[in-house]
Amino acid sequence: MAGNWKMYKNVSETRAYFQNFLPQVKDAKDREIVICPPFPNLETAVRETNDSIVKIGAQNLYWGKEGAVTGEVSGPMLHNIGCTYVIIAHSERREYFCEADEDVLKKTRAALEYELTPIVCVGERLGERETGQTETILVDQFRGGLSGLEPAEFAKIVVAYEPVWAIGTGKTATPEIAEEAHSIIRRQARDRFGDHAANKLRILYGGSVKPENVKALMFKEEIDGVLVGGASLNPDSFAAIVNF
Ligand code: PGA
Repeated sequence: MAGNWKMYKNVSETRAYFQNFLPQVKDAKDREIVICPPFPNLETAVRETNDSIVKIGAQNLYWGKEGAVTGEVSGPMLHNIGCTYVIIAHSERREYFCEADEDVLKKTRAALEYELTPIVCVGERLGERETGQTETILVDQFRGGLSGLEPAEFAKIVVAYEPVWAIGTGKTATPEIAEEAHSIIRRQARDRFGDHAANKLRILYGGSVKPENVKALMFKEEIDGVLVGGASLNPDSFAAIVNF
């Protein structure tokens, strides 16, 4: 159950959030909970969640270790402050910062090298869905990025299916639509990495997940978890999602 705060909250809001959120999820020991705050809040978030089951992730990373790359943050830097996850190729990064599938492969590898679990996002735009291209887009995104991983690397990643038309729009994909897309992704995983790897792959659904719709989504066998934007900003609503 992953929360993506995007470009919201400062350090004191981060502290207040965890004081409220942690007691609400302390018994959810069978859940893996990850929250991804903006870079300046990561250290505070790691400190606040130190004695809890909640893990902290970043929302992006650069593939190099260090160097003259103004404005970027590397895997070792994230690992050093206690991050254990990182979101890669969120559709907002693909859309506004021109991240391409080749970047996905480099970033995913860099994350794994520094013991960060990558949550790699894929998903089609509205126009692509309406013109029947969903499968082609998902296959291209998989083949252009994740196919390049070694099997041992692939075994450690998490994939998030986030249809762009459902992000921040209030339009959730129906559980059936999400399930169908997850099956396409899993089929790609099976073709490239085999049955065992495909069965073990965790695929999260993201796009307007709320306390009211999480149960129906999680009920689907193909859906292994959720990546939540807006509804993860409020500790009560994200706790309700985690404890669905
Ligand atoms: P949303 O965002 O839950 O606000 O739709 C999901 C995401 O972008 O990860």
